[in-house]
Amino acid sequence: MRMKNKYRKPTTLRCNAGTRCSFPVMVWSLVGCLLMLHLYSLVCRKHGVGGEIQMRKDHHHPLFHELEEVEEEDIRIPPPKGKRSPRAAKRRPKRPTTLIEEFLDESSQLRHVFFPDEKTAIHPMKDATNESFYYYPGRIWLDTDGNPIQAHGGGILYDEKSRKYYWYGEFKDGPTYHAHKKAAARVDIIGVGCYSSKDLWTWKHEGIVLVAEETDETHDLHKSNVLERPKVIYNEKTGKYVMWMHVDDANYTKASVGIAVSDSPTGPFDYLYSKRPHGFDSRDMTIFKDDDGVAYLIYSSEDNSELHVGPLNPDYLDVTRVMRTILVGQHREAPAVFKYQGTYYMITSGCTGWAPNEALAHASESILGPWETMGNPCIGGNKVFRQTTFFAQSTFVLPLPGLPGSFIFMADRWNPADLRDSRYVWLPLTVGGAADRPLDYNFGFPLWSRVSIYWHKRWRLPYTWKEKNQ
Ligand code: GAL
Repeated sequence: MRMKNKYRKPTTLRCNAGTRCSFPVMVWSLVGCLLMLHLYSLVCRKHGVGGEIQMRKDHHHPLFHELEEVEEEDIRIPPPKGKRSPRAAKRRPKRPTTLIEEFLDESSQLRHVFFPDEKTAIHPMKDATNESFYYYPGRIWLDTDGNPIQAHGGGILYDEKSRKYYWYGEFKDGPTYHAHKKAAARVDIIGVGCYSSKDLWTWKHEGIVLVAEETDETHDLHKSNVLERPKVIYNEKTGKYVMWMHVDDANYTKASVGIAVSDSPTGPFDYLYSKRPHGFDSRDMTIFKDDDGVAYLIYSSEDNSELHVGPLNPDYLDVTRVMRTILVGQHREAPAVFKYQGTYYMITSGCTGWAPNEALAHASESILGPWETMGNPCIGGNKVFRQTTFFAQSTFVLPLPGLPGSFIFMADRWNPADLRDSRYVWLPLTVGGAADRPLDYNFGFPLWSRVSIYWHKRWRLPYTWKEKNQ
């Protein structure tokens, strides 16, 4: 017998005259609408201040497709040479047991794999035409004078006026030593090296555009201090080239940014001052100039436990009062920021000094955050390659004009035993496809596109790109 439940609420609602809608139908319609809205927001992105809606094309340029092939590497730890007596084993230093230890071991049999010798150097002035324009990540890279390029922890500026690329970085051509027993390996400050190029492969040394201070020990850039990760942007309003860098003392306790300025991309840059931005410690850092001309400083802070981001003044010579904390508690450094179709992306490293570690990609709708962490962008090589950012650390991501969605990922393969011999790892980076880590607040749909960095032993930019851009 069916009993009528007098406490049961009616499940039908009167929608409009003469029509009756059931409650589940309404709920499902609502869910459907929300899903449709969500899908719509996935394919559409707001662009510009005008707020016009653009179809989101995730597919980068077809010319870049061949660079998206997965290239494997088979590097194994070599077996020990002969049998060792337990007594001899005790006397000898411990044999490396992981590829990372092998990488850090100066006497490793694999040294030539990570740091190939000068015989294999990339020599743009000498290399025969069929070797032309090939990048060989990790090999010595010579400038047009035949000297190894010295632009570590660097970044690239494209100068519209001269229609040239300028690569700035730490000029580290000096002896490596430890300031004291526990200190990290270092090279005295020499200055910021600058190289120019039209093709991103042949680099002419333009000199040391910001030089160390030799005598005044109280100067920020006294050679006994630290100058790292210089980046340069151009200010349209003032017509000046502005350089931001990490300045520190040998123990990394000053933790400040330094600012320098020049009328020309090839310097000389005048050093202005240093400061703790927003009153906080600042170590690894970068600057990013947005499409609307507003530039931002992004830096590791609170003892590298989080990052801070804030806009610069219109003249780019200082920060404003606006600052946001991002990636809180994630302990990331070496930030490299770029933008694609209205979304901001960032690659960071973990904090293990000169030793390599796993890169992570992050994305955000606003540069001020909130930033989402998407996972490791590295593809190919082998597992250890991917877990160590191909034995390197991020420093910059360069957009390739005319190839939307295609970028060059620039990283440093540090050589702590001889820092001047640190190598460059440049690899193709693309944005497209769904990110690996689904984000729960979005109905399980991955909101962001995947950032992918592809390992290649040898690769070059599409020929037609070069033809157009030279
Ligand atoms: C790294 C940092 C480098 C340099 C190094 C010194 O963590 O990314 O730029 O500061 O430490 O050990």
